[in-house]
This record gives sequence, structure tokens and C-alpha cells, in this order.
Amino acid sequence: MEYYKLVVLALSFASTVSCMASSHHGGPQIQWGSCDPSVVSDTSLSCGFLEVPLDYQDPSVGKARLALIKANATGERRGSVVFNPGGPGGSGLEVVNELKDLLLGFSGGVYDVISWDPRGVGNLTVPGEVFCFDDFAEYTAFFNGTIELTGIEETGNFTDPADINALLAQAPIMQKKYEQLAQKCMQSPSGKFLKYIGTAAAVRDIVSIANALDGPDAPINYIGTSYGTLIGSWLVNMFPERVGRVVLDGVFDPIVFATQEPSLSMPSQLISTDTIYKAIITGCALSGPSGCAAASEGDGPLDIDAKLQALMKTAYDATKLNASVPMTSGAIRNVLFGEMYFPADWSNLMNEEYPQMVQIVNGEAPANATLRRRSRQLIDRSPLVKRGSQPNDSPSFTGSAIYCADSVDLRGTTMEQVFKGIIPAAQNVSHLVGSTWPVAFYRCSFWPVRSVERYHGPFNKTLANKILVLSNLFDPITPLPGAETVARLLGKDAVLVRQNGFGHITVAEPSTCLNDITAAYFANGTLPANNTLCEVDADYEVFSGVNTADILAHLPRTDV
Ligand SMILES: *[C@@H]1O[C@H](CO)[C@@H](O)[C@H](O)[C@H]1NC(C)=O
Ligand SMILES: *[C@@H]1O[C@H](CO)[C@@H](O)[C@H](O)[C@H]1NC(C)=O
Ligand SMILES: *[C@@H]1O[C@H](CO)[C@@H](O)[C@H](O)[C@H]1NC(C)=O
Ligand SMILES: *[C@@H]1O[C@H](CO)[C@@H](O)[C@H](O)[C@H]1NC(C)=O
Ligand SMILES: *[C@@H]1O[C@H](CO)[C@@H](O)[C@H](O)[C@H]1NC(C)=O
Ligand SMILES: *[C@@H]1O[C@H](CO)[C@@H](O)[C@H](O)[C@H]1NC(C)=O
Ligand SMILES: *[C@@H]1O[C@H](CO)[C@@H](O)[C@H](O)[C@H]1NC(C)=O
Ligand SMILES: *[C@@H]1O[C@H](CO)[C@@H](O)[C@H](O)[C@H]1NC(C)=O
Ligand SMILES: *[C@@H]1O[C@H](CO)[C@@H](O)[C@H](O)[C@H]1NC(C)=O
Ligand SMILES: *[C@@H]1O[C@H](CO)[C@@H](O)[C@H](O)[C@H]1NC(C)=O
Repeated sequence: MEYYKLVVLALSFASTVSCMASSHHGGPQIQWGSCDPSVVSDTSLSCGFLEVPLDYQDPSVGKARLALIKANATGERRGSVVFNPGGPGGSGLEVVNELKDLLLGFSGGVYDVISWDPRGVGNLTVPGEVFCFDDFAEYTAFFNGTIELTGIEETGNFTDPADINALLAQAPIMQKKYEQLAQKCMQSPSGKFLKYIGTAAAVRDIVSIANALDGPDAPINYIGTSYGTLIGSWLVNMFPERVGRVVLDGVFDPIVFATQEPSLSMPSQLISTDTIYKAIITGCALSGPSGCAAASEGDGPLDIDAKLQALMKTAYDATKLNASVPMTSGAIRNVLFGEMYFPADWSNLMNEEYPQMVQIVNGEAPANATLRRRSRQLIDRSPLVKRGSQPNDSPSFTGSAIYCADSVDLRGTTMEQVFKGIIPAAQNVSHLVGSTWPVAFYRCSFWPVRSVERYHGPFNKTLANKILVLSNLFDPITPLPGAETVARLLGKDAVLVRQNGFGHITVAEPSTCLNDITAAYFANGTLPANNTLCEVDADYEVFSGVNTADILAHLPRTDV
């Protein structure tokens, strides 16, 4: 039903712009016109559609339809650069609508910036967003009484045997729930598309888009952030001879993804989170009460840590007495984790959200809807992907659909094994957010389909042009080793640039050094020395009066 509505919408839109000029390369053409105002508000942007095979290996299966967006180059146009913001499940239309200027600046202004809503995203692309429940009520009833809705309760770095046993007791229940969830997703209107919603299809879609815009022989230019770097790693290795200017920022390790189940490798993504937590409490303490509401006069980082730990302990104790508290300790951890992605949010976290959480946990205020959403919006969040469903919308399963269908074959992993990975992660890898739940990854050992095409290597192909690989030193979800791996495997065909700061992808903090590097690369193809380290701009304050260098200088010594 829904599907036909969307097709009709897409077709009727296309017919209104069919008189517009388009490019001519013999292949399918993109007809650019105005954008759907319910999705894109910036009227200087153009939109269009491109039909592609649902299955590139089997044209008889039918067509997919990609919704595209374009921001014209501001300088002398050299061609197009295709951009994917990550997620998986991020909407290119929404991100370009919000961040057109950032993206044009990043690419030196000499390329049209093109993005799209990938398969499984939004309501203009077909197949669109993956929903497995009719509405939020059905979802909460289905997961009632499980960690899906509350997060995992633990204290003392998950060393208390009572907490460990309580989690392990949920293993058979959660395993059954995720197996049933998989069946529900298969039976939903999205079900028949699940094997066509994947990263290899996204790669071939990029090639189709580039062919339609710049011709089948032109180099393909690409910017991928977060999960968009996995698309990028697959792209440059599946089509090494087509590689033009490519930037991967906030790199997801393609080898880990190609060899391990996401439900088991998730903890290895978290190695920088405790350091980032220390950065937050250090910045708060340096700023003091005037810039950080969580700090009292004379507080050091450990005093602020003690307050946050006490807040989580109070929520934990309350949850033991009554499981239906408005905010569990697991939900608080999830909020903290989500805010690690974007230092621009840290001041709001400590000045607005922390006092609210204290009030909610003490029963002095009702749960704030924004906070509730934050506590659930995990992994699918990149600083560029702001699009969030409302707290009471039916949740999207696009993130799981993409990660899980692309991941390694099922190996009979049980939920107990997944939990037995999480417990040591909370003990040793990330005290603060090792126990975070739910995460799209953790569904993968129980996901029912694999994509019709997957690319699991090699990742050391010889490329037509050198690419640029970017990473923060401290990224909460795509830590530095991912970028190092990609750069090492590509050897002379990649240059690694690191940013001496925090957050998910380098764009999370402003750096003139890094901007100059990407602009010069796109404009002139020039690259800096491998392993260059860029500083974050000194005039950028994370907390009032405190910049990134101040925090780094005062960070307690870490093992990262
Ligand atoms: C499509 O999604 C947008 C938000 O992204 C919403 O405003 C619009 O109403 C939706 N349209 C349809 C037909 O569902
Ligand atoms: C973008 O460029 C195309 C041609 O290159 C032009 O037709 C179109 O009007 C431009 N759009 C805007 C908003 O300037
Ligand atoms: C969840 O379960 C509890 C106890 O079994 C029940 O009282 C409550 O109504 C259920 N909530 C939903 C949304 O089904
Ligand atoms: C948890 O780990 C932190 C950091 O290593 C340590 O300071 C703290 O004492 C530990 N807490 C407990 C209850 O073991
Ligand atoms: C548990 O908390 C819920 C929500 O705050 C409340 O409605 C319920 O009465 C409490 N149950 C008990 C036994 O106190
Ligand atoms: C919830 O908190 C946010 C800040 O974190 C605030 O902007 C918003 O107004 C609050 N909403 C309600 C309903 O209190
Ligand atoms: C975690 O650390 C403890 C000691 O701190 C050690 O006994 C245990 O083996 C470690 N677990 C893992 C999985 O590394
Ligand atoms: C590329 O990696 C493969 C393993 O995936 C390895 O067998 C091969 O020797 C490598 N090639 C080069 C040129 O390093
Ligand atoms: C660039 O630096 C990375 C990280 O140190 C390293 O793995 C890679 O081999 C270097 N590349 C070249 C061409 O030296
Ligand atoms: C590209 O090279 C030209 C000529 O050397 C130079 O003037 C220009 O500033 C460079 N552009 C960027 C963005 O670095």
C-alpha cells in the first residue's frame, strides 16, 4: 500500500519536471527540478530521481528509484562529488538541505555536491524506510519488560555478579525477541526488499549516479562520513579504476566488518569513549560553575565524575525497586554516549540535560521527550545526521537492515555469547558505555537475510587516484585504528590526516587546517604529508572559556 503511494508520488513529481534540461551521456538521465518541500526547504537546491536495477545482477527483479539532491558548485565547475552522510540510514536530502555550505566549502566549491536518499531511507526513494512495526505502541508492547526499552542496568564497571546474572538471565528472552523481530521485519511491507538494501547496491548506485552526471568514463568523486566510509572503502576497491577525489572521514574498519559479526565486534568500536568522557568532565571542571552547571566552585574532573556516577547509581537503585522508572541508568549512559559524538553539544549536556536528568531521577520533573529520544538514538547518529524520528514514531530498522544484511554469514552466535562480549567490554574497554543497549549491531546475529551482493575484500587495490582518509584522535564510535587500517592497506594510494580533537568525524570540531587540506585536495589534487596532525581551531570553545587544546592539556593520562 504505502509502497504504491510512494511510487505514485515519485512518478507524479518526475512528470512535472520532464521538460527541464538534463545531461546527455546516452544512459539514463536525471531531470533536475525543485525539491519536495516536505523534505527540503532550501529552494536553491535541485532534486531529481534516477531509476536503477533493484538487483544489478538480475534485472528481471525490477527497479529501484533513488531520490537525488544537488547543490550547484559555487566556483568553476569541474564535475560532481557524491556525498553520503552515514547512519546507515542518513538522508542525503536532509543533510544537504541543512549543510549545503559546509559541504561546498569542504569540496572547494568546484564540484556540484550530489547526495541521495539511499535504498531504505526516507519516503521518496523506493524502497523506502524500513519499518517492522505498525506504530510505536506495537513496538513497546513487543519489547515490554526487556532491555530494549530500558537499557542495561549495571553499576561498578559491571563487576557485580548480581548484575551479570540478571543480564545473562535475559539472554534467552532477548534472543527469542530478536528472532521474532527478524520475522516481523520479513513479513512487513519492507520485507521483500531487505536483500536489496545494502552497501554494495549503494556503491553501484553511486556509479550509476556518476555515470548519469559526468559520463561512464569520468572519475568518481566521493565524500563519505561515518558508515559512509564503509560505502567508500567498498567503492574504491570495487571500482579502483574509477577513483577520482575521495575523502573518507570517521572511518569504519572494513576488515573488522568483513571478518567479524557486528554483534561481537561492537565493543572494539568503543575504545576511545572513556577518554572522551574524561574530556567532557575535564572541560566542565576547567570552565567552572559559570560555564558548566554540573561544576561547583573548586570542583575538579573527579568531583564531576562523582556527581554523574551518583546520578547513575540513584537511577540504578530506583530501577531495582520499580522497573518502570522514567529514566534508568542505562538510559543515562545512552544519553552520555550520544552526546560524545559532538563536542558542540557538551555544554548543553552539562548545563541543560544533566540538571534535567537529576530532576527526573529525583522524581521532581517528568521525563523530557528530547532526552528520551536521545537515550534511544544510538549508533544511527552522526553529527551530520540530525534527522530523528519523534519519540513516539514507529522506530526505523534501516540501520540494522543495512549493517546486518551486509555482514558476515550467520555463525550460530547466541545472545548469551553477545552478552558475554558486552560484560568484559564494560569492565575493560569502556566503563561508561560498554553496556550500551540497544544498538543496531546487536541484532545482526539474528537477522534473517543477507544482501544479494556483498564485498568483503580485498581492500588493498591499486587506485587510479590517491584518496584522503580523515580521523579524530578520539572518536567515540569509529576510533582512529579504522582510518589507520584503511590507509595502511592502500599504501601510497592513501594519505591519512588526523585531527587532534574529539567527536565523531572531523567535522564535529572546526579546523581551518583540515578545511584547507580538503579544499586544496578537491581544487588541485594536492595532498599533505601522510599522518599530518591538524589542530582544532583555538577560538572554538567547547565550554565557555575552554577550547579543545585546554582539554587535551589537562586530560588525565590514558591508555589510549
Ligand atoms: C515524507 O517525509 C517527510 C519528512 O521527512 C514528511 O514531512 C512528509 O510528510 C512525508 N511524506 C509522505 C507522503 O509521507
Ligand atoms: C544550477 O546549475 C544549473 C546548470 O548548471 C542551472 O540550470 C540551475 O539554474 C542552477 N541552480 C541554481 C539554484 O542556481
Ligand atoms: C507491560 O507489562 C506490564 C506487566 O506485565 C503491564 O502491566 C503493561 O501494561 C505492559 N505494557 C505494555 C505497553 O504492554
Ligand atoms: C571503575 O573503573 C574506574 C576507572 O578505571 C575506576 O576509577 C573505578 O574505581 C571503577 N569502579 C569500580 C566500582 O570498580
Ligand atoms: C512504579 O513506577 C510507575 C511509574 O513511575 C508507577 O506508575 C507505579 O505505580 C510504580 N509502582 C510501584 C509498585 O511503586
Ligand atoms: C527538554 O530539554 C531540552 C534541552 O535539553 C529543552 O530544549 C526542551 O525544551 C525540553 N522539553 C521539555 C518538554 O521540557
Ligand atoms: C578484564 O580485566 C580484568 C582485570 O582488570 C581481567 O581479569 C580480565 O581478564 C579482563 N577481561 C578481558 C576480557 O580482557
Ligand atoms: C592484498 O591483500 C591480500 C589479502 O586480502 C593479500 O593476499 C595480497 O598479497 C595483498 N596484495 C598486496 C599487493 O599487498
Ligand atoms: C601513512 O600512515 C599510516 C598510519 O601511520 C600508515 O599505516 C601508512 O602505511 C602510511 N602510508 C604511507 C604511504 O607511508
Ligand atoms: C590551487 O592552486 C592554485 C594555484 O597554485 C592556488 O592559487 C589555489 O589557492 C589552490 N586552491 C586551493 C583551494 O588550495
